[in-house]
Amino acid sequence: MAYVVMESCIRCKYTDCVDVCPVDCFYEGPNMLVIHPDECIDCGLCEPECPVKAIAHEDEMPQDQLDFIQINEEMSERWPNIYEMKDAPPDADEWKEVKAKRHLLEK
Ligand code: SF4
Ligand code: F3S
Repeated sequence: MAYVVMESCIRCKYTDCVDVCPVDCFYEGPNMLVIHPDECIDCGLCEPECPVKAIAHEDEMPQDQLDFIQINEEMSERWPNIYEMKDAPPDADEWKEVKAKRHLLEK
């Protein structure tokens, strides 16, 4: 069981989540982060930190986000670890309210 980063993170990538993770289990892609499911200790600290509510426990995810379980699994094996907060993309705020953006995910 683990927490999962979902669609809202795409093009927002605020990285507030990274700052609180005690086990540094976030991985960074070109325009979103994912959580390594085998490294996450289910502490729940990251969930309330995300300004766009992109993080949920895998048991509590909306039905239309379930494919992100596999995306987190796969991409956390390919993308580099991120353990420090960094600046969000300059246009992050423009993507805050956009719900449908999975087609923009860069792998
Ligand atoms: Fe890290 Fe805890 Fe979030 Fe898992 S639930 S990603 S261990 S902060
Ligand atoms: Fe993404 Fe939210 Fe973290 S936008 S990078 S999951 S703080």
